[in-house]
Amino acid sequence: MLELNMRFRLVALFFLSSIHLCSLVQSICSRGCGLALGSYYISPGNELDPISQYMNTNINSILQYNRGTITNQDSVQSFIRINVPFSCECINGDFLGHMFSYTVRSQDTYGLIASERYANLTTVEWIQRFNSHPVNRIPDVNTTINVTVNCSCGDSSISKDYGLFVTYTLRSGETLDSVSSVAKLSSNLMRSYNPDANFDVVNSLIYIPGRDENGNYPPLTTSSGD
Ligand SMILES: *[C@@H]1O[C@H](CO)[C@@H](O)[C@H](O)[C@H]1NC(C)=O
Ligand SMILES: *[C@@H]1O[C@H](CO)[C@@H](O)[C@H](O)[C@H]1NC(C)=O
Ligand SMILES: *[C@@H]1O[C@H](CO)[C@@H](O)[C@H](O)[C@H]1NC(C)=O
Ligand SMILES: *[C@@H]1O[C@H](CO)[C@@H](O)[C@H](O)[C@H]1NC(C)=O
Repeated sequence: MLELNMRFRLVALFFLSSIHLCSLVQSICSRGCGLALGSYYISPGNELDPISQYMNTNINSILQYNRGTITNQDSVQSFIRINVPFSCECINGDFLGHMFSYTVRSQDTYGLIASERYANLTTVEWIQRFNSHPVNRIPDVNTTINVTVNCSCGDSSISKDYGLFVTYTLRSGETLDSVSSVAKLSSNLMRSYNPDANFDVVNSLIYIPGRDENGNYPPLTTSSGD
């Protein structure tokens, strides 16, 4: 009886530690994937030039991923989303993201940088995490700060058909079904890629399979995802 009890404990211990090991392995990335897209919501007054500066890219690169959406690059339509390309890296071996270099402008606050400059693709907490500056004091104009935006490289256990992902911030009124329907993908697939996302909370970040410059879904390759 004693021996049985002991054996049970050993099995339980082994079981628990393997779960622990799994979650440990899953939370650590070893590499990124060249490309991700950020879904940037255009508020009135936004222009491509400043957006390309915030996102450390150029207007031509943005245009490539928004054929048919951006008709006039000098005056981009408001209340639409555009996809902005950036490289998705494994940061500190911890998570997939990109650290943008942002030059502080007058009247900036961390809140304004997160919600307006980066269209809620990041949060105040997530910006502060990667900056040595004091939490409540925004650094001087023209100094640079790190702004980190998360990304995804896909998941071979879900599908090998999707190897490019859009980091997408939910807006008020958007749901799992509405986002899936706009993307013309099933809600099940969308849920699989976002198992922990709360689709009822405004500004939740989700990852949606994205299309390349030619409008195709690039498949997962061995160099992207795992
Ligand atoms: C970001 O979220 C805040 C709070 O919900 C909202 O007021 C703001 O308009 C959002 N920014 C954009 C670009 O939609
Ligand atoms: C980015 O990902 C990390 C690790 O999963 C998470 O802790 C963090 O809250 C995420 N940031 C945002 C803005 O969602
Ligand atoms: C931005 O991140 C880099 C790399 O992690 C770090 O060396 C630098 O000090 C950070 N910048 C600020 C303003 O904290
Ligand atoms: C910030 O840089 C811009 C462009 O280089 C310059 O015109 C402006 O005077 C600078 N502002 C401050 C406060 O240094």
